[in-house]
Amino acid sequence: MKLHNQVAVVTGAASGMGKAIAELYAQEGAKVIVADLNLEGAEQVAQGIVSSGGTAKALKVNIAQLSDIENMIDTAVSEYGTLDILVNNAGIMDGFEPVGDITEEKWDRIFDINTKGVMRATRKALPVFLEKGKGVIVNTASTGGYNGAHAGAAYTASKHAVVGLTKNTGFMYAAQGIRCNAIAPGAVMTNIQASMNGLSEFGVSRTRLTQGLIPRAGSPEEIAKVALFLASDDASFLNGTVVTADAGWTSAF
Ligand SMILES: NC(=O)c1ccc[n+]([C@@H]2O[C@H](COP(=O)([O-])OP(=O)(O)OC[C@H]3O[C@@H](n4cnc5c(N)ncnc54)[C@H](O)[C@@H]3O)[C@@H](O)[C@H]2O)c1
Repeated sequence: MKLHNQVAVVTGAASGMGKAIAELYAQEGAKVIVADLNLEGAEQVAQGIVSSGGTAKALKVNIAQLSDIENMIDTAVSEYGTLDILVNNAGIMDGFEPVGDITEEKWDRIFDINTKGVMRATRKALPVFLEKGKGVIVNTASTGGYNGAHAGAAYTASKHAVVGLTKNTGFMYAAQGIRCNAIAPGAVMTNIQASMNGLSEFGVSRTRLTQGLIPRAGSPEEIAKVALFLASDDASFLNGTVVTADAGWTSAF
């Protein structure tokens, strides 16, 4: 088992990629905090893990709330004694709005969840990692984190910021046994459409130009395998980098 006795926190773990990551980590021996705003969904995932012989605890976490984030990391430590792996995966889409159409409120909501949540959870986990001299952070960015044509202005900027934070964190703590990497998924079949509202027809029509080049949509399980690699010692030499998993979509650009 690649994560034997490791303690992992996975955010956005009630659905999609987070769920697949939580399940695969548990299969590989990790004790997992299944963190999500959707407690019912998180409980189902945790129960599924436990009934397959794994160890998991569901936790209601709004990643836009500082107190919830602090409680999430504290719960991992109080429940399982430590923290080894933090997967910052929770995220929402925008409505493909170009900058001219984005509201203050939506911009802030997307940044609070997609970007500030990643910073806050990482900041809270760091003292545990620094004390152990070891720790792994895996961030779910997006191909929209380094391309301008995959979403609206707010989502694109929020994921570019996650890529920057990943590189900076990887670099800053490289000598202290901490690795921080990101995954940039292309199109993946999840429930993320549920987070889209107020679609901009103009924005959708602009991004459609590049969507025609998507070779195929991936499964959450394919992303989970990348997240397992990044969390495991197999990725011991990877730090501050982004692994693209998109079936070759962005190799076109
Ligand atoms: N699906 C894609 O094509 C795609 C592509 C690139 C990147 N991503 C990124 O992948 C990550 C996972 O998304 P997914 O596609 O699995 O979507 P999903 O909607 O299936 O899962 C996201 C989960 O995050 C949770 N969540 C939303 N807001 C939250 C909050 N404030 N606090 C805590 N949890 C919250 C949701 O309840 C949900 O369970 C996101 O960061 C997303 O931006 C998705």
